[in-house]
Amino acid sequence: GATSVTQQESRNIALRLEETKKNVVVFWGSQSGTAEALAGRLARELHLRFGLETMTADLSDYDAETIALIPDSKFAIFLLSTYGEGDPSDNAQLFWKWITEHQSSRLESLRYAAFGLGNSNYKFYNKVIDTVVAALDSKGGKAMLPVGKADDAQGATEEDYMRWKECLFATLRTVTGLEEKPLLYEPTLEVVKDDSLDLIDLHDGTPVHSSAPKALPVTRFDELFKASSRNCLHVELDLADIPEIRYKTGDHLAVWPMNPDQEVENLLSVLGLSDERATPIIIRSNDSSVKVKLPTPTTPAVLFRHYLEICAPPSRETIKGLAQFAPSPEARSLLMRISEDQASYASFTAKTLLTLGRLLMLASGGEKWSALPLSWVVESLSPMQPRYYSISSSSLLSPRKITITALVAKTPLHDAPEETILGVTTSYMLALARSKGSSLAQPSDTSLSTPTYQLLSQPDLGQSVSMYAHVRKSKFKLPITSSCPLIMIAAGTGIAPFRAFITERARLQAIGKPVGRMMLFFGCRSPEEDYIYQDELQNAQRQSLGDETLQIVTAFSRVKGRQKLYVQDRVEEHGKDVAEMVAEQGANVYICGRASMAREVGSRFGKVLASFTNMSDADADALLSGMRRNGKWQEDVWG
Ligand code: 2AM
Repeated sequence: GATSVTQQESRNIALRLEETKKNVVVFWGSQSGTAEALAGRLARELHLRFGLETMTADLSDYDAETIALIPDSKFAIFLLSTYGEGDPSDNAQLFWKWITEHQSSRLESLRYAAFGLGNSNYKFYNKVIDTVVAALDSKGGKAMLPVGKADDAQGATEEDYMRWKECLFATLRTVTGLEEKPLLYEPTLEVVKDDSLDLIDLHDGTPVHSSAPKALPVTRFDELFKASSRNCLHVELDLADIPEIRYKTGDHLAVWPMNPDQEVENLLSVLGLSDERATPIIIRSNDSSVKVKLPTPTTPAVLFRHYLEICAPPSRETIKGLAQFAPSPEARSLLMRISEDQASYASFTAKTLLTLGRLLMLASGGEKWSALPLSWVVESLSPMQPRYYSISSSSLLSPRKITITALVAKTPLHDAPEETILGVTTSYMLALARSKGSSLAQPSDTSLSTPTYQLLSQPDLGQSVSMYAHVRKSKFKLPITSSCPLIMIAAGTGIAPFRAFITERARLQAIGKPVGRMMLFFGCRSPEEDYIYQDELQNAQRQSLGDETLQIVTAFSRVKGRQKLYVQDRVEEHGKDVAEMVAEQGANVYICGRASMAREVGSRFGKVLASFTNMSDADADALLSGMRRNGKWQEDVWG
């Protein structure tokens, strides 16, 4: 079987369906991998349950206009996520352009189903799927069932998906009259041992990763604050010897973590692969329309350590699917019980730290799962995704050194608070800083325990401490004109890009450029606990910019005996200045932090403008929408 779509393969989806004898295509538009993973699962399940010949398709692999050529004996499914300001994922950009700009094209023969992934904390909740569905319908496409939507703000993506999927299956049974078959596993991939293989270099898995990550040496590692269950790290990476990596102030650093030893060992052991951990394996697709998204040849240990998300809790559907391979009736009944419905899954995960390896161990009492194929594990786990951090250094001041600011949070389980969920990437970064031979300053807090990592399995890293990362460009950028006033609003580590903005502007002023007025609103718990970069910010204010140019307004939410204050309260309080800067002086507005914070700031802003200017509410809202369109209102936010 082919392992990747080659240059010669058609960009015509109708032709491709024809050639590969498929009758269903599941298109996905995905940034973080969720929609992509759901697409794979849905395509497999449609095949197993209904005998449909299905394929998944990365929207960027096909010319959008060829969707019109799909005959009505077949159908298409769209699984599309919405990001940031109502944007599609990168891989859906061309499709998006076509569907929103080519009003005249017709899709009369297209039968389709659609499901959107979004987060209602964002202003443009599921805008992409709504827009796509409206456009498909207006071009004559025939929806087979109402559009489904997932809301990640409620943590309900999985359950929303399962509900919509049941509606789709019901439609297939009743309307299309398809017969359902008993679910029997059919692998879409094959994992083959082959001692003669040369292993590829770690992360050298093109076309797996769009921009190849590089091992970046870590040159500083500071703890910005420590509190009982939260710590904040300031990590500096050196680009001196890596000319191909460049960044601009406001960009993101994508960090590729590795999985902790314990999780890797659990899986190897329960799958009976401990003795073959280093045996070369090749992962091949059984189906020419399915691309293998993992670097191969590899080994079981490297696969689990670097290429698969083995620390994520398996979904309810995954647990259901596992039952058929259970090594004992007891294991089977445990899996059936916890995956039975949403409530049983929720109550189980509230008291048990769940990863695939832990679940397998727990269910079988440590006994091997000899009937569980490695191909199933590879299909069911998501490929490792990088984690994105807003860069907190300025490319003007520090073009060859990148810093990021990361919160290490330990989240206790709801019904078993002695168990904590550790961040995959932050735990890994901590372990790196403490690894043997590291000359980095050690965080003082010994309570910051981390799992152990096989850091030596990164052969090309040598003595220095490095981590795999690449830069992702962002639109979160300072205005070109240095005299343009800025309003910056951040909570927590959302301060990161503003640290860069402020140091950059301090430098511009020092070299004689006119620098516009800046207001920074910063929210954290208390000045003692988590006011990160306080000295630096105050120095920039007192020693370089002056408090005319930089005004810092803090909002502390957890100071004993004082009222809880959030940045949006402070923005309102300073409404007169804010309105004047925005409405009269043309200030840019930047927000960085959690999406829920940005949404609340956004929703109060219109009122602030209306009450301090002679604008009506409608005028104020129109002004803000215009600012968003023109890049004068920018957000860098996360779930
Ligand atoms: P908290 O103490 O209530 O959690 C950084 O995490 C800061 O952002 C904290 O002060 C936190 O307050 C605050 N925060 C939490 N939710 C917020 C929201 N919806 N809007 C603004 N600030 C918020």
